[in-house]
Amino acid sequence: MLTEFKAGDKIRHIVLCRVQKVGNSANGGVFARGFASDNTAALPFISFDGYTVDVLRSLTGPRAFVVTGTIDMNRFAGDGSLQLLIQKIEPPLPEEDLSHLLPDGGVDLNEYGRRFDLLLGKIKDADILRLVRQVFSGRIWASFRTNPAGMSYHHAYIGGLLEHSVDTAELAVAMGEKVKDADQDILIAGSLLHDIGKLREISQDIGFPYTGEGKLLGHIAIGAMMAEEAALGMDPPISGEKLQLIVHIIISHHGDQEKGSPINCRTKEAFIVHYADELNSVLNQFHPREGKGWQYNKMLARNIFLGGE
Ligand SMILES: [Fe+2]
Ligand SMILES: [Fe+2]
Repeated sequence: MLTEFKAGDKIRHIVLCRVQKVGNSANGGVFARGFASDNTAALPFISFDGYTVDVLRSLTGPRAFVVTGTIDMNRFAGDGSLQLLIQKIEPPLPEEDLSHLLPDGGVDLNEYGRRFDLLLGKIKDADILRLVRQVFSGRIWASFRTNPAGMSYHHAYIGGLLEHSVDTAELAVAMGEKVKDADQDILIAGSLLHDIGKLREISQDIGFPYTGEGKLLGHIAIGAMMAEEAALGMDPPISGEKLQLIVHIIISHHGDQEKGSPINCRTKEAFIVHYADELNSVLNQFHPREGKGWQYNKMLARNIFLGGE
């Protein structure tokens, strides 16, 4: 496990490599740098080996490799942190167990499943409840239970999507109780469905790469399509207005056009879900997985304090 290594260790370990930059070094050689991770940590790596650099240059996304190298002090960081100097990389053998590369966020899937059911139990409108059940029917529930909610930014671990959706819904319900005439049924349905498109946008494979459909359509459009597809299968049908109020939440949950929503929030419930979603994604940056002390956070583009040792 990456967390167990110290400066000076010579290692041979299977890691997930994400390349950030490939280029020429000052002395005329080549280099590649990026991050090597397993489910315990991510370490910056650098390599000056020509063959390794060529292999890394050809990657289009994160890939698992058996790396041979040395753990070193990161001279550029100057803060005592470590980096991995890669001397050699090889593809893992087909029979190799790669499960330690899937990040584990410690989500209690059964507990979150129970909280999901409790939320459904609060929906009073029979049509809205049937719509939500229809979306989550069959194989969708099984993958919703374990899918991550992101490739790297937030809830990027097994069960992250379930955790994020339930936590967002609970926050939205709590906010809704303080807001006059907020429709709790729409809030719950909209929160549980807001990121449902991520099921088809992000794959559960090693490195959680984006799918072709995800790259072409994005989770907002896919989510709206999934809700519409589910509504088509309902008999008797759900009213157009109820469906639109829920799809509006899916479509507007990023808040504004500049943040990727084709339409900005136009209902009380859409604003509530947008802020609940944002708050939950931000607070996930303080997850115990991120470590302790001051850390630079990429999603928030600033240093944040994760608490003392
Ligand atoms: Fe989203
Ligand atoms: Fe979200």
